[in-house]
Amino acid sequence: MQAVVVEQWGEARDLRTRDWPDPEPGPGQVLVEVRAAGCNFADTLMAQGRYQERPELPFVLGTDVAGRVASCGPGVTRWRPGDRVYGACGTGAFAQHAAVDAAALRAIPGTLDDDVAICLPTTYATAYAALVYRAGLRAGETLLVHAAAGGVGSAAVQVGCALGARVIGTASADKLAIATQAGAARVIDYRGEDWVQRVLEETAGRGADVIYDPVGGEILDASLRCIAWGGRLLVIGFASGDIPEIRANRILLKNISVVGLHWPPYRTHEPESYAGCLQALEELCVTGALEPRISARYPLASASEALTALGARGTWGKLVLVP
Ligand SMILES: NC(=O)c1ccc[n+]([C@@H]2O[C@H](COP(=O)([O-])OP(=O)(O)OC[C@H]3O[C@@H](n4cnc5c(N)ncnc54)[C@H](OP(=O)(O)O)[C@@H]3O)[C@@H](O)[C@H]2O)c1
Repeated sequence: MQAVVVEQWGEARDLRTRDWPDPEPGPGQVLVEVRAAGCNFADTLMAQGRYQERPELPFVLGTDVAGRVASCGPGVTRWRPGDRVYGACGTGAFAQHAAVDAAALRAIPGTLDDDVAICLPTTYATAYAALVYRAGLRAGETLLVHAAAGGVGSAAVQVGCALGARVIGTASADKLAIATQAGAARVIDYRGEDWVQRVLEETAGRGADVIYDPVGGEILDASLRCIAWGGRLLVIGFASGDIPEIRANRILLKNISVVGLHWPPYRTHEPESYAGCLQALEELCVTGALEPRISARYPLASASEALTALGARGTWGKLVLVP
């Protein structure tokens, strides 16, 4: 089969799609015929060896998978060949077939297509878990989403709107329309405008109740100047490459909470919350309250191109590889 293989740590532009042995589903595993594989910023970090987990080389890249069950390994009773499934498998998704733990998969609800399902296990789940589990976002609150046209950013805009929040999004100027389409009531060019001042103006000086930050660096630091009394600052990621430090007095003075969210380990640490999050997202998609959209589709052979653009700020929304 064809697969995107990491043979040595390096940049996304060095990735190659090549022949690779078909995986065999082991005990408790399912062989999935991959119909869609989702690209995430974390894939670029994993290819560089800079992600929290460093698989043994060589390995097939990619975590988010949607497709059909091709066969089941020993001990699997829950799935049958032909079942439509999706999930996050850690590695192995950027290939024509992936051997995935049966417990990591969920059925794609009948009315949803693969393109919607592939958005859920990482991108939308990160947004939902952060806003609901970690920040306790309430209807009527103001939510500020940074990088609001990016993968987890545009998901947070949509989830925030579905939860009844008033959403303000920041992004590069050429991506502001995407944040508006996702549902942001106000959008701000955070590279060209005094966005802190704009947020204060938009909130009558109070600041945002919840701030969702996948960027880090000076964006996170400046966010402390436009967060409301009792606000919650969600630390989602560091797309800027800069992990900032926060002076503790700034947390005290405005009575705020700085809250981290690391989604993938929920599956082992809090399996019920993990399943509950995906269940809630499926329901929101089925009712039409959420409408995840794919921004670009690439053949597997163009994985390097897709991930290079994603890591270099050249994309918006969700990118999908179609084997
Ligand atoms: N905590 C978790 O469990 C979790 C889960 C998923 C992802 N994440 C993290 O969330 C972040 C975003 O992931 P994603 O998949 O949504 O990526 P993405 O689609 O590429 O979005 C990242 C966005 O960040 C903005 N950005 C600002 N400075 C940047 C820089 N120097 N280089 C690249 N982008 C920059 C860009 O938007 P503008 O051009 O509009 O600024 C870009 O579109 C990553 O750090 C990722 O690791 C965390």
